[in-house]
Amino acid sequence: MIHARISGTGSYLPGEPVSNSDLIALHGLESSDEWIVERTGIRCRHLAPDGVGSSDLAFEASRRALQAAGRSAGEIDLVIVATSTPDYVFPSTAALLQHKLGITNGAPAFDVQAVCSGFVYALTIAEKFIRSGSHKCALVVGAEVFSRILDWKDRGTCVLFGDGAGAVVLEASGEPGLLATALHADGSQHGILSVPGQLCGGVATGDPFLRMDGQAVFKFAVKVLADVAHEVLATAGMTAAQVDWLIPHQANVRILQATAKKLHMAPEKCIITVDHHGNTSSASIPLALDESVRAGRIQPGQHLLLEGVGGGFTWGATLLRF
Ligand code: UT7
Repeated sequence: MIHARISGTGSYLPGEPVSNSDLIALHGLESSDEWIVERTGIRCRHLAPDGVGSSDLAFEASRRALQAAGRSAGEIDLVIVATSTPDYVFPSTAALLQHKLGITNGAPAFDVQAVCSGFVYALTIAEKFIRSGSHKCALVVGAEVFSRILDWKDRGTCVLFGDGAGAVVLEASGEPGLLATALHADGSQHGILSVPGQLCGGVATGDPFLRMDGQAVFKFAVKVLADVAHEVLATAGMTAAQVDWLIPHQANVRILQATAKKLHMAPEKCIITVDHHGNTSSASIPLALDESVRAGRIQPGQHLLLEGVGGGFTWGATLLRF
């Protein structure tokens, strides 16, 4: 039986961290470090400089993941990038990344658009390719420059997000890796988190910025993150007590803590990195994963529960042995 296992992780945050106080001063926001920390747990975020796009961040994260996996770019036979802030309308960020990495073997490359659930969606898609036997070594990336779609006058959203990328190499293996996956969407909730603008004649028309009903998103997120965690645990015949690390989408510390509590998991088993990079949408799960692997917290053989939730609404989870 062919399994799919993560063999290497990498991540990248552009530039220097921008603190809450610096952001408030930069944009003249009526806000405070205390408010942002208390309501979100976020202390700083990274913002990509002008001219740096998602494919550039994806490139840096991918280089690190390839190095960790001991793989060369030429061994990658599938490239999937989860992003809602692609470099262009098309070609895909994955195609640009494939070129930047020097992959010339014709490996398929495409983007997945599921907003903050994007990485879990992309990982699940890559798993299906690998388990089918058609592909052996996938590069799965979450990369975002959300700073480009923020309204810097809207203090309810602009303090929450940041830029970054995370990547994993997912390989065919005789040993179990990904144990259970689940993906869901409910398009009736599209209005609570969206960028409702359109492109017409090369110009963004309508509203090109992120709009959100924060409280509705909060409630929806906590509910579906608990539900989908139970779903993958049941599929794998495991309990939450057997999970070593919970790695939810890094949106807000209060959402993460509420999710761990609903699952009756100790708060210290929940990986939290949102404090120093804010909400990086599809990049947040692989970023949190990579930082924890490099810090020596996550060890080979441990069980991880990755969970995403985001605009659409979309949500999903992956239970895996690392
Ligand atoms: O990937 C998913 C992305 N989305 C999320 O993770 C968002 C989930 N939602 C949340 O995290 C929270 O709803 C927020 C952090 C966005 C807001 O926290 P809240 O506790 O739900 O606050 P609120 O929206 O009820 O606002 C309370 C007050 C309001 O003032 P009034 O009407 O009581 O006078 C807001 O205008 O806080 C005000 N406020 C702010 N004050 C200072 C909103 N943003 C700010 C701010 N600084 N940045």
